[in-house]
Amino acid sequence: MIRAAGPPSQASPASCTRWTRIAIAAGLQHIEDIITFEGPQTIAAVIVESVVGTNGLIIPPDGYMQGLRELCTRHGILLICDEIMSGFGRTGEWFAVDHWGVVPDIMTVAKGLTSAYVPLGAAIVTDEIAQRFEDHPLYAGLTYNSHPVGCAAALACINVYKEDGLIENARRLGGVLATELDGLKERHPSVGDVRSIGLFSLVELVKDRATRAPLTPFNPKPTELGPMPAFSAYLREHGFFTFVRWNSFFINPPLHRGAAARGPGDRRRRARDHRPRRRVGKQAESVRMRPPPQPRAARRCADGGSPGYPG
Ligand SMILES: Cc1ncc(COP(=O)(O)O)c(C=O)c1O
Repeated sequence: MIRAAGPPSQASPASCTRWTRIAIAAGLQHIEDIITFEGPQTIAAVIVESVVGTNGLIIPPDGYMQGLRELCTRHGILLICDEIMSGFGRTGEWFAVDHWGVVPDIMTVAKGLTSAYVPLGAAIVTDEIAQRFEDHPLYAGLTYNSHPVGCAAALACINVYKEDGLIENARRLGGVLATELDGLKERHPSVGDVRSIGLFSLVELVKDRATRAPLTPFNPKPTELGPMPAFSAYLREHGFFTFVRWNSFFINPPLHRGAAARGPGDRRRRARDHRPRRRVGKQAESVRMRPPPQPRAARRCADGGSPGYPG
């Protein structure tokens, strides 16, 4: 496996300045150079996160993914897009690649596939790839491969995304979130940058806005986290649960947030109707769902301690 630099990052999927175009060309040239040095015949696939998540919410500028698709096709290399974080509406489209009209050969998905209620991951492939396995065995398997509960949860979830218009809602609220984040950046001297696409967003904290010096070094030791553990403890004490990593934190609200009235598929009514019930005498009674016990790290955090890397 050979690692390559990712795309230049930008604040929104649409902006495209002259600088961005130069950065896209340089980024793609970097990939093409590696392909040339290694020999395209030795490379089975290029795998990218369509929008890089944990590593800093890096949104490729318009043109980068299209260029990567063209590069892979030209050299006979498969393009695999990891949409485990960005898939199923998170970015305001069904899949992040839809922002750029790109069709990968393989797409990996998980979290949003079942809204994470049940563990399930999947690789979505083109018809051409699927066709091959009509008469060639796929030598791969897992103990809980295609578990019916996971698959049923995925089908139910996909219906909810469609019926409740959650993808459209994420797109609409993404505009609101972007405006709020821009306001935060303007107001707060410690906010070095904000990036968002749909309801997938990140705030970067800096020591100095002019130099963009981050509040923590790259890949910090626990002792180098500076104010970040206290910051994440503060968030949790105020009921805000999110992923804080190094000098940045994510704001990724649920896709239904703010979508109060959605017509036919009113979510609250459905949640109530689907609550597990148990029979008591002749009457059916809703089972009260107790909150799960807090994991140790979260408890420490709620007490004001330092959880290190929460999330
Ligand atoms: C973008 C991305 N890719 C891959 C993975 C790994 O997924 P899995 O745990 O389903 O193998 C994760 C897990 O968080 C992820 O966020």
